[in-house]
Amino acid sequence: MKLLFELSKEHTTLPKDEVISCLNAEEIIYTIIDVDENVLVIESDVNRYMIKKMAKRLSFTFYIDEFLFSCSNSPNEIKKCAENMCIGRKGSIAINYKNRSTNINSQQIVETLAETYTKKRTVDLKNPDIEVRVVITDTNVYVGLKIAEVDRTQFEKRKVQYRPFFSPISLHPKLARALVNLSAIKEGETILDPFCGTGGILIEAGLIGARVIGSDIEEKMIEGCKKTLEFYQIKSYKLFCSDIGDINNIITSVDAVVTDLPYGKSTTTKGENIQRLYSRAFKNIFKVLEKDGLAVVGLSNKEMISAGERYFSLVNTYGFKIHRSMTRYFAVYKK
Ligand SMILES: C[S@@+](CC[C@H](N)C(=O)[O-])C[C@H]1O[C@@H](n2cnc3c(N)ncnc32)[C@H](O)[C@@H]1O
Repeated sequence: MKLLFELSKEHTTLPKDEVISCLNAEEIIYTIIDVDENVLVIESDVNRYMIKKMAKRLSFTFYIDEFLFSCSNSPNEIKKCAENMCIGRKGSIAINYKNRSTNINSQQIVETLAETYTKKRTVDLKNPDIEVRVVITDTNVYVGLKIAEVDRTQFEKRKVQYRPFFSPISLHPKLARALVNLSAIKEGETILDPFCGTGGILIEAGLIGARVIGSDIEEKMIEGCKKTLEFYQIKSYKLFCSDIGDINNIITSVDAVVTDLPYGKSTTTKGENIQRLYSRAFKNIFKVLEKDGLAVVGLSNKEMISAGERYFSLVNTYGFKIHRSMTRYFAVYKK
């Protein structure tokens, strides 16, 4: 079957890389058919259970659809493709779209699809048996049948202000989830955040079934983080208070590391120079990470990316706008 992932476009490459990392984590074999900022189309033998599981993991995807076709925006071509690609299943239908183009009118496109797909069917916009999904870009139209929707409201509900322990240092949960996914962690494997703070990354890792380990130099962070993990009923966790330099006294090996290093502004470094702290962090993360394991690390600025390359090979980097005036850099390293 061909699958269409409708990407959130909140970043040029991170959403598609998140999907690819999840496919790898779930050991799904696939071939990429088409990819841009808006969509990822793959061919895979994956079953519906695994597709729903993927939708539960992902954060920067809106929908996963069974891919029907893609073509130019020309109504004639859309009509031809729709007629060639009929929908076998019986039942009521709805056509929903996302218009990602700068100037293409969606009405004519949807009407053209409706001419073919709503023939001899009941249209039910509220609770259809079949939902046709359309993504309109400047150059193309992608058409599929919805299989699963990513529940993006869950990430809003887990923002730090709604948790039992608050500190402004925590990343948005949807970004924390995407970082966890980039580590390609599998259910039951162990993930470490050695600068865990309030536990934003650990919550997202725990909710997808990873065993989580967190440490932080501040005892109050560890206490707050414990309350938060309990609140989200994450059972498989270990937390301890430690400077990054001492973590290998307590942990021997982990499958992945996902962490957000102090920026040296609002978050404390206990007076330590940021270069020195980052260098110590990479050295000690290297000691506890399994061979071939991935470390996904948030950095205060672009120049810090090379600090990790002393120990790891760099896989990918992402600049991500956290606020209007603040871009953070996230790097994926491999041991
Ligand atoms: C950017 S915050 C992490 C935020 C976290 N991701 C969250 O969701 O709250 C960085 C954390 O690093 C901790 N930290 C600072 N210096 C440290 C050190 N030398 N060893 C371990 N943790 C340290 C701080 O106490 C802070 O909680």
